[in-house]
Amino acid sequence: MLIQVEDLAHTYAPGTPLAHAALRGVSLEIAPGERVGLVGRTGSGKSTLVQHLAGLLKPTSGRVLLDGVAAHARSSAAQRRKLALAFQYPEHQIFEHTVLREVAFGPRNLGLGKDEVDGRLSWALEMVGLDAEAMGARVPFTLSGGEMRRVALASALAMRPEVLILDEPTAGLDPQGRRELLGRVARWQEEIGLTLILVSHDLDELARVVERVVLLDGGQVAADGPVRQVLSDGDLLRAAGLDVPQPVALLQTLRDAGWDVRTDRLLPQEAVAEIVRGRRALETRG
Ligand SMILES: Nc1ncnc2c1ncn2[C@@H]1O[C@H](COP(=O)(O)OP(=O)(O)OP(=O)(O)O)[C@@H](O)[C@H]1O
Ligand SMILES: [Mg+2]
Repeated sequence: MLIQVEDLAHTYAPGTPLAHAALRGVSLEIAPGERVGLVGRTGSGKSTLVQHLAGLLKPTSGRVLLDGVAAHARSSAAQRRKLALAFQYPEHQIFEHTVLREVAFGPRNLGLGKDEVDGRLSWALEMVGLDAEAMGARVPFTLSGGEMRRVALASALAMRPEVLILDEPTAGLDPQGRRELLGRVARWQEEIGLTLILVSHDLDELARVVERVVLLDGGQVAADGPVRQVLSDGDLLRAAGLDVPQPVALLQTLRDAGWDVRTDRLLPQEAVAEIVRGRRALETRG
């Protein structure tokens, strides 16, 4: 699915003293199969933007097109099911009485047969690392924050969408749980060529998954480019209220100390290789 955002603006509570311009002239295009990270400081407009992509908000001006059709005007279930959004606050999304019913809700609504629904249910729960036996009958509102987030994710996955948008998918999960979950989603993304849009404050985590990063600041696109370029640009990120990923910070410190190293190495293993290379260069020089 081709996503086109054209000069999108969104003002909350327009015409009141509480009016707030959350998006101001955002334009971008996301091609089928892309893995895009959406970053920016708190309040920069990330959740507002992904809700527009999901057609949940109506633009104040500008438009969002999904394969040429305005996102908020898509009426048929067939159009809507192609895109799934897991909300930043899963409690806004979950409404069924048990975990199984919650995850099965979307597929059932698509009119799928029982076998297909059951198949998707067990697959989706496994993807997010939830045990159907132990958790299936639980009431979602009695779950921990991390468990509830996994349920919300499973619900989005069970739709088998063409576009999957995860708004802070790993908030509240422990480090190992985050890695496993994103690893599984990323492998699935590659298998089926899904478009994946990840909103995250964890740039180290994003660096492992996405190929492109869109940086929002004050409701505007402050940068949009290859992950290596955007996430290694310390000046750009700091101006937008963010810090560079750890490996980049380390390499920048070494370079400030006189080492001849590249600083656009986002992953720990890449940074180590660069440090080894830089050390050899120092030795041959000295
Ligand atoms: N329903 C609302 N009514 C009024 N203002 C809102 C509403 N929702 C969001 N805002 C404001 O719009 C701006 C953008 O909010 P948004 O939730 O899109 O930011 P965000 O980048 O997702 O932030 P975070 O990283 O904290 O999740 C914020 O200043 C927020 O206070
Ligand atoms: Mg948000």
